[in-house]
Amino acid sequence: MARSGKVTVVGAGFYGSTTAMRLAQYDVFETVVLTDIVDGKAEGLALDMNQSRPVEGFETLVVGQTTTVDGGGYEAIADSDIVVITAGLPRKPGMSRMDLIEVNAKIVRGVAEQVAKNAPNAVVIVVSNPLDEMTALTALATGFPKSRVIGQAGMLDTARFTNSVAEAAGVEVGEVTTLTLGSHGDTMVPVPSKCTVSGKPLGEVLDQAKIDELVDRTRNGGAEIVALLKTGSAYYAPSSAAAYMAKAVHTDSHETLPVCAWVEGQFGIEGVYLGVEAEIGKEGVVKVVETDLTDTELAGLKEAAEAVREKQADVADL
Ligand code: NAI
Ligand code: 2OP
Repeated sequence: MARSGKVTVVGAGFYGSTTAMRLAQYDVFETVVLTDIVDGKAEGLALDMNQSRPVEGFETLVVGQTTTVDGGGYEAIADSDIVVITAGLPRKPGMSRMDLIEVNAKIVRGVAEQVAKNAPNAVVIVVSNPLDEMTALTALATGFPKSRVIGQAGMLDTARFTNSVAEAAGVEVGEVTTLTLGSHGDTMVPVPSKCTVSGKPLGEVLDQAKIDELVDRTRNGGAEIVALLKTGSAYYAPSSAAAYMAKAVHTDSHETLPVCAWVEGQFGIEGVYLGVEAEIGKEGVVKVVETDLTDTELAGLKEAAEAVREKQADVADL
């Protein structure tokens, strides 16, 4: 595939820099722009990434740009087809994602307004936490159609579930299919009825106690890593997820992926950003895909919708 287009990653911290690196290594974009408010950080990391090109064998150019909160430097993101927003604080041990809401809302709102001004046609992929709320805030602050604002969480949570199931079943990860819906938080809904190991239903491979344990571990997957790292949160699997979503948009792949998307009537849920499966293409969400769920799973999804709906309404005032 010929290289084309421009993707911007806002925030050159652990999540943003690994995402930029992965996007560059796909070698399908003409340019990856990486920005941060810390003077020189994005430029330094971009130079480092570009110097890896001869060894890794990719040609995509990474452009680093320092920005200011009042919009300085944002001309670098002009005409981006895709913008990934990673700016914001990560969790510390003992913190919930929701503890970040006030400080990250200010950051994300400011970034979103600059994205609207400088890259008005972009598809925006949000990763800053708390994810469901920051995605809703980005839609509000950009004024973009909701199909062009997507959150990343389900791909990560699903990858974590898949990894745990593969380890427990003693098979390669490629043999396992799992699914996670709901919020990127306490009301996450791992969906065992959609999980298979080498084509067999999960319940035929692992006993119920083990499945319950893995569901719980998936729900607490972010906190498990925060507790081990002691400072900062996960970024290798998260950046894989966000970069993959950006590639799906860029290549107009029409893959069905678990993402945080605007739900309007699907599953009987009205008007909320929620983790669901969605077909992803060049314009963002092509459609939310309504998969069959058990009564318990559907109840879990509805509970998640109500939990995040209230908080998403609050972000308008932050
Ligand atoms: P980090 O602290 O390493 O990086 C954050 C970066 O954002 C810093 O370089 C900081 O200077 C920059 N920044 C702050 N304000 C900015 C602004 N106005 N404009 C541009 N850059 C700005 O944190 P990390 O690990 O990269 O995480 C970033 C966010 O992603 C956090 O909110 C974290 O909770 C979230 N996250 C979300 C996940 C998900 O699945 N959705 C998974 C993992 C992390
Ligand atoms: C994660 O799930 C903290 O949201 C972040 O790793």
